[in-house]
Amino acid sequence: MIQRHTGLVLAFDVDWDVEKSIMFLNGISDLIDAVKIGWYQLLTIGPQGIKELTDSVNKYFLADFKLGDVAHINEYVVRKVYGLGINGLIMHAVAGRDNLATAINVARKLGVDVYLLISMSSGGELYDRNLDYNVSLGMSLGVSGFIVPATKPNVVRQVRSMVGSNYQLLSPGVGVQGGKPGCAIANGADFEIVGRSIINSESPRQAALNILNAIRNPISCS
Ligand code: XMP
Repeated sequence: MIQRHTGLVLAFDVDWDVEKSIMFLNGISDLIDAVKIGWYQLLTIGPQGIKELTDSVNKYFLADFKLGDVAHINEYVVRKVYGLGINGLIMHAVAGRDNLATAINVARKLGVDVYLLISMSSGGELYDRNLDYNVSLGMSLGVSGFIVPATKPNVVRQVRSMVGSNYQLLSPGVGVQGGKPGCAIANGADFEIVGRSIINSESPRQAALNILNAIRNPISCS
């Protein structure tokens, strides 16, 4: 599980080299609880580059590969993710029980957390029609938590009321996509995931501090 200190997870979608990435992350590390990396960065710096990041930056790393293949491929990817020093992985609920179960078991044995994607910050209408089913699926498979979009406050509230306090809710879609900083947590999420509002800012530290301030003092969230 991600340890919560600030409530902020950085979506690190950049095409920078490893050196610049490490410098940036070490400069903001005290303000964030985890670093979310994804396809963009993997395809930019490669697996070796990702390993250098996880070796050099003392932070929880969450791989957002939105994994949703058949069972044995999911398991292969989980093992590779573990080998890169990554702590958690996002998987697509839509892959279904048979394709998720083994990989989630393997991940748990390796100490890699699985967060299940059950709604999307934009689109994702098929997910939203099957919210109850997907939340129950994740709970029965033993995931660590769920991805709930900041752009859909009703989904955040509904999932929190379904899962109680034993699962972590991570909320992307804050800032550029329209979710108000602080409101996903005010509605029941544990973490807000923010990328471009911080990365593209002229002062990323200040942008992160502004978001932390909104998390501590949320206003007009509905
Ligand atoms: P920005 O720059 O908009 O980046 O703050 C958002 C980050 O979050 C990811 N994202 C999602 N991931 N379900 C997910 O699992 C979602 O609904 C979702 N919406 C955005 C996106 O990949 C980016 O890294």
